[in-house]
Amino acid sequence: MNNLEKIKFKTDPIVARYETKRASILEILRLLQEEYGHITTEMEREVAEYLGIAAIDVREVMTFYSLFYDKPKARTRFHVCRTLSCYLRGGREILKHIENKLGVKAGGMTEDKAFSINTVECLGACEFAPMMQVNDVKYVGPLTKEKIDEVITKLQKGSDPF
Ligand code: FES
Repeated sequence: MNNLEKIKFKTDPIVARYETKRASILEILRLLQEEYGHITTEMEREVAEYLGIAAIDVREVMTFYSLFYDKPKARTRFHVCRTLSCYLRGGREILKHIENKLGVKAGGMTEDKAFSINTVECLGACEFAPMMQVNDVKYVGPLTKEKIDEVITKLQKGSDPF
């Protein structure tokens, strides 16, 4: 029994709510991630087969949305906006500062799996530019190097920086 089949009792009612199977893809992927933590290539193939669509269609959705993970997640995930408003207000320098501070480049994760960094397109919060999303939930900005240092230090100490 594959990963998707194990939770079919949850996915079937979701698919039934949609006019076409394909339309349920976001909810199916969200549920898989909730169950398994991340979505492997094998799971992508399972979803494609289950919904009767091409595997490339699932891959496209996975790569378009930054909140889907194809590898295990870090405990704290920084999604740094790289779009124009943030870029013009120093987003590139902020990203470099985070990379230097954590010793890992965008797209990577620290060895202790405590932090990961990735870049994303506009998160619709340009008034906070330059900004980032933390752990798929919290918007933080306008960012300064001092603010970044404070957030990272507090997270490393296990306290809530927000
Ligand atoms: S450009 Fe960064 S949130 Fe819009």
